[in-house]
Amino acid sequence: MEENIDGHFFVDSTCIDCGACRKFAPVNFGATGEFAFVKQQPQSVTEELEAKQALVACPTGSIGTTQKTNLEKAQNSFPLKIAPEIFINGYNARDSYGADSYFIQSSSGNWLVDSPRFTKKLVRKFEELVGVKYIFLTHQDDVADSDLFAKYFQAQRIIHKLDAHSSKEAEIVLSSDEDRIIDQGKIIFTPEHTKGHQVLLWDDKYLFTGDHFAWLNRRNRFGSFRDACWHSWEEQIKSVEKLRSLTEVQWVFPGHGHRKQVADNTFVEIIDDAVVWMKLVA
Ligand SMILES: [Fe+2]
Repeated sequence: MEENIDGHFFVDSTCIDCGACRKFAPVNFGATGEFAFVKQQPQSVTEELEAKQALVACPTGSIGTTQKTNLEKAQNSFPLKIAPEIFINGYNARDSYGADSYFIQSSSGNWLVDSPRFTKKLVRKFEELVGVKYIFLTHQDDVADSDLFAKYFQAQRIIHKLDAHSSKEAEIVLSSDEDRIIDQGKIIFTPEHTKGHQVLLWDDKYLFTGDHFAWLNRRNRFGSFRDACWHSWEEQIKSVEKLRSLTEVQWVFPGHGHRKQVADNTFVEIIDDAVVWMKLVA
């Protein structure tokens, strides 16, 4: 595409603008509003690795290089540790429109949060981390290859009944709108991006939000996606207000949108501010 800055990396016209590349290599990839493009070729070893991680993560294989490139280091960097016990998986799946998925390492059994592509390299890394016990599916859109991971690792898939048509063999189907505790995870019902959307609060401080709530880079703020609320925006706002009780959140890890660290004791303020803004954009 003509927007690409000339050089080794490029983005082609198959891009679906999921934003995955901009999260792994924000210096090198930009957005036109319709697709991603190379806004600056890598200028350091770190940027080179980040651009390769973006290439590996890209769900549509839309990032290429003009010459043959060794991707082994970037491939082996996933799952990538982003907080104590928390990893981002890369290998974003086309089926989930390139949503990010995560891996939680726990002495009581590891969790996947939503699903990356099922690849040999990632499976081997999960095996080294002693497998997967639960696969928490935030909502119907992001199940991707979860069935393959569940079968391989004998893991239990968790999803809400109202979204369970996308994961028909899920072992744990929740039907209540009450919070549910499993190991160190608290599952909170948060419709209406989808009818059965749920978020996962891990160890009181890590909040996996699926497509419910994220850092919105273009707006430079937290909130929900107005144009990706598939049902009632009013209900969506109520579901954001539910997060107000989670006073110890330190990180927000979404599927779409950007992950973001939260300063100590500011999450209630963040939620209140997001709710005010969401009511304005209704
Ligand atoms: Fe979604």
